[in-house]
Amino acid sequence: MLNNNYLHYSQIKVLQVEPTSRCNLACPQCARMDLGRINPQLPVGDLPEEDIEKVFPEELIPQLKQVLFNGNYGDPVIYPYLDQMMDRLLSFGSPRIFIYTNGSLRTPEWWKALGTKLKKGRHLVIFSVDGLQETNAIYRVNSRFEKVMENAQAFIGAGGRARWDYLMFAHNVHQVDEAVSLAKKMGFKQFNKKKTARFIHDHHMKTNTDNQITPIFNRKNEVTGELAPGEYEAQSKFDVIKQKYGSWQNYVNTTKIHCKYKEDMAGLYVDFNADVWPCCWLGAPIYFADPNNIQKQQMTKLLSQFEEGFNSLRRHKWADILSHPWFNNLLVESWKNRLDDENSKLMTCGRTCGTDYEFSSGGRWKNSEVISLDG
Ligand SMILES: C[S@@+](CC[C@H](N)C(=O)[O-])C[C@H]1O[C@@H](n2cnc3c(N)ncnc32)[C@H](O)[C@@H]1O
Ligand code: SF4
Ligand code: SF4
Repeated sequence: MLNNNYLHYSQIKVLQVEPTSRCNLACPQCARMDLGRINPQLPVGDLPEEDIEKVFPEELIPQLKQVLFNGNYGDPVIYPYLDQMMDRLLSFGSPRIFIYTNGSLRTPEWWKALGTKLKKGRHLVIFSVDGLQETNAIYRVNSRFEKVMENAQAFIGAGGRARWDYLMFAHNVHQVDEAVSLAKKMGFKQFNKKKTARFIHDHHMKTNTDNQITPIFNRKNEVTGELAPGEYEAQSKFDVIKQKYGSWQNYVNTTKIHCKYKEDMAGLYVDFNADVWPCCWLGAPIYFADPNNIQKQQMTKLLSQFEEGFNSLRRHKWADILSHPWFNNLLVESWKNRLDDENSKLMTCGRTCGTDYEFSSGGRWKNSEVISLDG
């Protein structure tokens, strides 16, 4: 008989944790934003300190290879108990710790202490800095470039390993080489040139036949028709998909799924409510702002069939959550189905982990080009 289980407790190797939904910035295409204001569907909150041992039980930590502090809606560095979480991980095990941040919070002293804490082991802090002095704040709205550089330098100076992640837009693409030189001079270990597909939505996939960075087109606001400051549209292979499959829906219905979290990482995702999701992409849609978003509608329908809190680490232990029917068989079975089947294939799975299209800008996948700056 086929094993349709997503992951057993003993198989978990990677956890991505979103300790907070809060952030000091307002990046226009971040899911925390909705047409220039904070997404009204997003609860504001942090994992309370007592959740730390529920998310990271003592016996789970030794088997973890990597812990990623990242998320869909918040910046982990704003989280007040980040040090306590890391200390627990480092005292009960030896996972590699990755922190994804805009780098503009806290003081250089805190960053220096973090560099000292993380200098042993192959931990990595990923600074999301999309430009230089004049351009970073166009997308990273409310950030101050000097402050980010000061923090990064304090972290690196204390021995911390850092990567510079640079999302490429029309307004900053001309500065990439300069940013690479600066990163090298400052002692960053890696530089990641990232493309974004976030301007491509399920309901209005745009034209383009090549997945190059340029040309990058301006994007108009869907409601007002105005071009919002700092908003640009990246390229997609969407037309190619439409030609090959007839429609985006048909592509999602027929594509094979290669689950990035289960197959590539043996990983799971925990959000700021201590809810467990198979991956970051399935943890996002319930809080999307747009009620007509297909991913949100599918997740809302799916969750309405399960008891409330079935995936909450505040109510259940890890092993119990992973033996719930959704994790135990329904999700994996759904990958062979179609969008309108009873156990629906999820649009999120089709768009993220299908064969022909890459939405993710994550460091492991093909919208990213990571350059080593060592040596
Ligand atoms: C929501 S953020 C949370 C972590 C942190 N606040 C940060 O920005 O790095 C998660 C990831 O989304 C990325 N991101 C933000 N806007 C993006 C966009 N338009 N396209 C692709 N990735 C984006 C961030 O750079 C980061 O790697
Ligand atoms: S810094 Fe990260 S979490 Fe904050 S608004 Fe930007 S992308 Fe979103
Ligand atoms: S979107 Fe679906 S297939 Fe992709 S990683 Fe998440 S659970 Fe796996």
